[in-house]
Amino acid sequence: MRTETGQVIRLGDYRPSDYLIDKTDLVFRLDPTRTRVTAKLQMRRRAGVAPGTPLTLDGDGLTFVGARIDGADAGDNAVSATADALVVNAPPASETFTLEIETVVDPTANTQLMGLYRTGGNYCTQCEAEGFRRITYFLDRPDVLSVYTVRIEADRKDVPLLLSNGNPVEQGDLDDGRHYAVWRDPHPKPSYLFALFAGNLGVVEDEFTTASGRLVTLKIYVEHGKEPRAAYAMDALKRSMRWDEERFGLEYDLDIFQIVAVSDFNMGAMENKGLNIFNDKYVLADPRTATDQDYASIEAIIAHEYFHNWTGNRITCRDWFQLCLKEGLTVYRDQEFSADMRSRPVKRIGDVRLLRAHQFPEDSGPLAHPVRPRTYREINNFYTATVYEKGAEIVRMLRTLLGAKGFAAGMDLYFQRHDGEAATIEQFLACFAEAAQTDLTQFALWYDQPGTPNLAITTRYDRTARTFAVTVNQSLKPPVAGTPNAPMVIPIAFALAGKNGSTLDHDAVSGARTMQHEGEDGVLVITEPKHEIVFTGIAEEPVLSVLRGFSAPVTRVPQAPTRDRFFLARHDSDPFSRWEALNSLAMEDLIKATRAVSAGDPAAASDALVDIFSAVAGDGTFDNAYRALCLTLPAETDIAREIGRDIDPDAINKARRGVTEHLAKACERVFARIYHELQPRNAYDPGAEGAGRRALRNVALTMLCHAARSTDLAEQALAEADNMTDRAHALMVLTHLAPESEAAAQALEAFRTAFRAEPIVLDKWFTIQATVPRAETVETVQALTKAPGFSWDNPNRLRSLIGAFATGNPVAFNRADGKGYELLCAAIGRIDAKNPQVAARLMTAMRAWRNLEPGRRQRAKTAIESLRRGDRVSRDLADIIDRTLA
Ligand code: BES
Ligand code: ZN
Repeated sequence: MRTETGQVIRLGDYRPSDYLIDKTDLVFRLDPTRTRVTAKLQMRRRAGVAPGTPLTLDGDGLTFVGARIDGADAGDNAVSATADALVVNAPPASETFTLEIETVVDPTANTQLMGLYRTGGNYCTQCEAEGFRRITYFLDRPDVLSVYTVRIEADRKDVPLLLSNGNPVEQGDLDDGRHYAVWRDPHPKPSYLFALFAGNLGVVEDEFTTASGRLVTLKIYVEHGKEPRAAYAMDALKRSMRWDEERFGLEYDLDIFQIVAVSDFNMGAMENKGLNIFNDKYVLADPRTATDQDYASIEAIIAHEYFHNWTGNRITCRDWFQLCLKEGLTVYRDQEFSADMRSRPVKRIGDVRLLRAHQFPEDSGPLAHPVRPRTYREINNFYTATVYEKGAEIVRMLRTLLGAKGFAAGMDLYFQRHDGEAATIEQFLACFAEAAQTDLTQFALWYDQPGTPNLAITTRYDRTARTFAVTVNQSLKPPVAGTPNAPMVIPIAFALAGKNGSTLDHDAVSGARTMQHEGEDGVLVITEPKHEIVFTGIAEEPVLSVLRGFSAPVTRVPQAPTRDRFFLARHDSDPFSRWEALNSLAMEDLIKATRAVSAGDPAAASDALVDIFSAVAGDGTFDNAYRALCLTLPAETDIAREIGRDIDPDAINKARRGVTEHLAKACERVFARIYHELQPRNAYDPGAEGAGRRALRNVALTMLCHAARSTDLAEQALAEADNMTDRAHALMVLTHLAPESEAAAQALEAFRTAFRAEPIVLDKWFTIQATVPRAETVETVQALTKAPGFSWDNPNRLRSLIGAFATGNPVAFNRADGKGYELLCAAIGRIDAKNPQVAARLMTAMRAWRNLEPGRRQRAKTAIESLRRGDRVSRDLADIIDRTLA
């Protein structure tokens, strides 16, 4: 394990490598503990580099066997090898030469799940970001593109399946019961996109004909017996392929596209060229085992990894500082795909909630960093909500500023100009600036300045002059001392709403550039710290609707006047903004209720909120999924974020519960009607329509249980449930509202028995128990680490128990005696010894420790510091802790 913590990598230090690798021929002789890897590299000295310049290849924990240069054994003087580097001291003076390297790796001992490792008795690789160097010495950086040929040899009986990137070219038998296969990927690629899978799995096969007529074989490999559960993923894949052709004009470029589902995986999935590797929870689904949320995630992630084929693989990143070039853009693309497959407003609301829940806190806390960071100690720690989600928001803003046509022209130019290259953010932006004939210099600040800008907006209507004045102030509080905060370009999609919400016309606007793309909302382009914008020719007093569709990732403090928000919550013609208004009103009441609880008073909702809540609940003209979102109160973590400092999680929990009960009682009749009307009539269908019905019905179930202060209905729902969405929801309500009841105990036991052989389903069982909002859950989680089915070695198990506890249970995690923090830190210490990446990710749950009230703050700090003092802290974990404490 790498425990050194010193080195900082800087964007400003980038320079191209002295050597390139035109061809990479790999041979893997697979063995559980001694896999031999030979790499034959066709090296080329870059023009302008002095002949004989030493060549240093990256390694990480490698066992070196030997090297040959141009076919001759390289002696000890010619190369020096350590576990972490191989130096060719005096390479041949010729422009090109071959370098053959032999290494030995132990896949069974690889618990980090980076490089070549074992999962379920199979062999699997994960190379992004720097895992390839754990397989062989290489120029393991994304701007070194090479054409790969891969030969895999293994035991024929145990390892019948031998897969790598590209197209299959040859296979056959060897002596001793072994066999081999050869794969060739004609597309030059960086090493992080290399993949190998070898083992024994079942397969689902299909095909796809591209727009230009190429027939592509599609294969999804899953555990034997689980083939039927890959049908939805296959369908999502075909829809993704079609969508990318229709929306972006992008076709697939090999004869075969393969997906392998594995049970041990640090992340969600990986876009290796032609051979995506997936965490099996993002492939496997059927109504009995997967929830609607699982289906939606599968659809999104299958699409995401497929879309990387162009945004990431065909055009990759020059260096890891440019990570958002592929991730932010690809998230934007998968969001658009899901919006087209399902309900656009519902998707947008979900994405904004996610952004606020994860990215905003990151951007205002100790782990804040620019979307394009300028330094890092460990790149694995920069696969963050900021790079991904804020990165996607920047692309969305480009789309809003340039309009559909301008944006499409920029994307087209990007694909045309940079295909086959490793590109930068500057090059990406230059394509849009050029194609849409616009200057994006100031816009580029979005990539460089951390922090969430705030807008302060006030309005004034002058009846006699028929003018409407809007003052907009932007400000950016640097999240980290010394980070820049120049004014940004902020696109504010807007409408002036007249009575009933219809958009009012205006004659002219002064004070800001405005844009009006065909069929889209008008946009005010904010560029200065302060704008005094005046609309003329306004016939009646309007209500200003701004940031429609959440047109920029900003906060708005203070909020619009309460009266305006009540109007918008009923009448805004933009469904996102209508939800936003309602949500902010609910938030206001929840914060008031928290203050009340802290002062020893009861929590209640205002009459006005009750009115609008019951109006929405009873409004059958809204789509069910949308109504479900509107009727879901902000989560406890959302409330904590809004309150911001001296947070008392117990008071928030009590307040939210009080407000929920109040609303539930006030709207009990409406919820009862919804619950009965939305009884399932047809067989389960994972599509948006059915999912929306279930979402709304389950909100009604929750509210009815709160109203009655009884879990009878949840018990009944559990007994009737014929799919995992309803079953898991009912079990959650029952367990959370009556954790001590015999009914909850029995239901949990029945669930465990039914799914004891299905780890990814059992994860729901762990999560439901880890998120029971009461102090005793600390002990429950401790006990569950010894439950059958739990494993300290599997990332999904760790996330479903430890991760869910730390991020989804504010009450127990923040128990006043600090035992929640101690539990997390002890678990992380244990995990870090085996899997630093997962440990570091879990550690981010403590980033908001400074916002707690003083007692908890001190206990949290003590727990973090004592973990840091442990004797073998990985670089990954040390990096997160040091920034968290800084
Ligand atoms: N390239 C990433 C996978 C990855 C992440 C590799 C971090 C190495 C380190 C992949 O495309 C990805 O982004 N996966 C996401 C899911 C996606 C839908 C946002 C993941 O794994 O969480
Ligand atoms: Zn990605």
